[in-house]
Amino acid sequence: TTLSFDKSKLSTFVDEEELAMIQPMVNVADEMLRQRTGAGAAYTDWIKLPTEYDKEEFARIQSAAEKIKNNSKVLVVIGIGGSYLGARAAVDFLNEYFNSSYDDSEREFPQIIFTGNNISGQYLNSVIKLIGDRDFSVNIISKSGTTTEPAIAFRVFKQMLEDKYGVNEAKERIFATTDAKRGSLKTLADDQGYEEFVVPDGVGGRFSVLTAVGLLPIAAAGGDIEQLMAGAAAAQKDYADADLQKNEAYQYAAYRNILYRKGYTTELLINYEPTLVQFGEWWKQLQGESEGKDGKGIFPASGNFSTDLHSFGQYIQEGRRNLFETLVRVTNPTSDVVIPEMEADDGLEYLQGKTMSYVNRMASDGTLLAHVDGGVPNMVVEIEQQDAYHLGYMIYFFEIAVGISGYLNGVNPFNQPGVEAYKKNMFGLLGKPGYEELTAALRERL
Ligand code: PA5
Repeated sequence: TTLSFDKSKLSTFVDEEELAMIQPMVNVADEMLRQRTGAGAAYTDWIKLPTEYDKEEFARIQSAAEKIKNNSKVLVVIGIGGSYLGARAAVDFLNEYFNSSYDDSEREFPQIIFTGNNISGQYLNSVIKLIGDRDFSVNIISKSGTTTEPAIAFRVFKQMLEDKYGVNEAKERIFATTDAKRGSLKTLADDQGYEEFVVPDGVGGRFSVLTAVGLLPIAAAGGDIEQLMAGAAAAQKDYADADLQKNEAYQYAAYRNILYRKGYTTELLINYEPTLVQFGEWWKQLQGESEGKDGKGIFPASGNFSTDLHSFGQYIQEGRRNLFETLVRVTNPTSDVVIPEMEADDGLEYLQGKTMSYVNRMASDGTLLAHVDGGVPNMVVEIEQQDAYHLGYMIYFFEIAVGISGYLNGVNPFNQPGVEAYKKNMFGLLGKPGYEELTAALRERL
């Protein structure tokens, strides 16, 4: 199998009957999702995306990636939230860890730099310094086309491109991924004649990694986007049955819900590979924005092991017992190191000749058992290879699971009303026209 889901270590926390008890609720959640009768149904087109996507646009994405590869040493990807986390996770997952720091001559693809995901002038200056005098292109990604963080960054890089290449060539180096019809970015892109890609109406930001939002940066970084889609399509087929005995993505959703009701309110997505750290960031948005609302929801966190075992590992082992973990691991590493022989005694003799992946495996197995013994339920999601096909498959596993999970918990998993609150206050404090009353009220409070 492409992905295995191991829940055997839940046995001391959840009885088999509890899964059977929740099956009727899963049936309802499945119907809400598949028959589009649930809240937010207008944003569920991602369910069929792996098989029903715009093939013409897909080909244009591949050509654009090729063009960027040929004329740029750097691709600046501007976007925030759902408009960058998936691409970033995939780019890290599919490449060598320090790939972005390599010399250009050692990289077949442009260096990918993500910007517009914070409001730091220091960060932007560092990006400008990193680009230096190298050729670059820009992919501005914003579904609404009005988000402040990417809009500010885009102004800066648009100006830089125009200064460096002139207005006309700059246009050839800007790729805009946005709504098909609405928003300031759409208007600007039409007006300037940038090549455009679409974020489909029925796909929310956090579910958009398999649209142009993720696909263009991933392809520009050398990722095999056909395999990515093929993996997701296989998962779409495999995770279509409402029967919990036949659907492990639904099982994952059901167990999470059972655990949540028992007071396990924080879930840590655990990895043992630095190339999976950003996958955890993508997952946190997917879970947190889908489920954290109406005063409910599992808090999504992540653990980068074994690094974090030497920091908050203590808390996991012995702190407040409201945690559970989902370990994501890859069976076969993309490369390995054999622990060398050494004459001097450093106490590691018993490990020489063994691979680091073996040691890593024992660390993850040992930790899992220790945490279970410490009262932390653990589940394991394991894929065989660290490649585009398996990534596509795993992305779909978590996406379909969160759809079911949200409905099981009685929320609309496809809206994000809470994301607006900080924006309103920020606009008020910045004195954006139309926010005058709020401006006065907030300044008073500060
Ligand atoms: O999932 C979401 O809705 C958010 O994280 C958005 O993706 C994020 O705010 C960026 O929005 P936009 O793509 O409209 O710029």
